[in-house]
Amino acid sequence: MRVSSGVDGFDELVAGGLPEGRLYVLSGPPGSGKTTFSAQFLTEGAVRGENCLYVSMHETRADILEDMSGFDFGFDRALNTEGVTYLDALSSDGKRFFGMPGERRDHAGLDNRIVSFVNSRGIGRVVIDSTMLLRFFVSDDDDALIRFLSALKRTDATTLLIAEMTDPSAYADEHYLAHGVVFFHNYLDDGGMTRGIQVVKMRGTSIDADIRGIEFSERGLRVLPDEPVGGTTDGTVDGAAGR
Ligand SMILES: Nc1ncnc2c1ncn2[C@@H]1O[C@H](COP(=O)(O)OP(=O)(O)OP(=O)(O)O)[C@@H](O)[C@H]1O
Ligand SMILES: [Mg+2]
Repeated sequence: MRVSSGVDGFDELVAGGLPEGRLYVLSGPPGSGKTTFSAQFLTEGAVRGENCLYVSMHETRADILEDMSGFDFGFDRALNTEGVTYLDALSSDGKRFFGMPGERRDHAGLDNRIVSFVNSRGIGRVVIDSTMLLRFFVSDDDDALIRFLSALKRTDATTLLIAEMTDPSAYADEHYLAHGVVFFHNYLDDGGMTRGIQVVKMRGTSIDADIRGIEFSERGLRVLPDEPVGGTTDGTVDGAAGR
């Protein structure tokens, strides 16, 4: 089964949609559209009556509603739908889940909590925004993050994980661990900014791996149907950093 992303023009790049129940990483520079894409993905699920979970490590529910208020794709309605849960890691519910940043934690407990939350509620779509901050919550050692993501991979939910590239010259563990990786690009072109999206990997699926133009409108993000954009189409990290 394939899951529709909710982003116009995107499903066509991945043979009709994201293979269901898998883990996908969205990476790219600040302001490149990762959160908007994820909000559209969640909204699509809510509209289809799927149970959804949005986990934010750094934004309150009010913050993200404010950020998305310039769009009218229905994110506010989606967040208010029964079956859609917004978990702010710094709220009291969030602290019960994640503990406080920097605290000694029981990682197996966290992994089990997320898996049982997703399974017991029959959650179909999960968004985690973002790994940079997740690292802060889970632990300093990489193994805890890998175990947490592996636990999510075992659920039936289709998960989008937003992963800032803290070191733009290197891929991180999550890029290898994920079933699919999507890069967002911002690059300067004739003095203006061009935005693009690129499916770098999607296991089991034939992909269009060229950088495609994207555009923001009131309806949110959409992938432009035109020719690929930009010169860096080899999927390297340099491309992701927009250089
Ligand atoms: N109608 C609109 N409403 C809100 N933002 C818009 C709109 N049109 C264009 N944008 C732009 O879209 C960008 C939103 O990007 P988004 O928050 O999805 O990026 P991001 O990749 O999650 O960034 P970060 O890593 O900083 O969280 C903003 O920089 C904003 O300028
Ligand atoms: Mg964001």
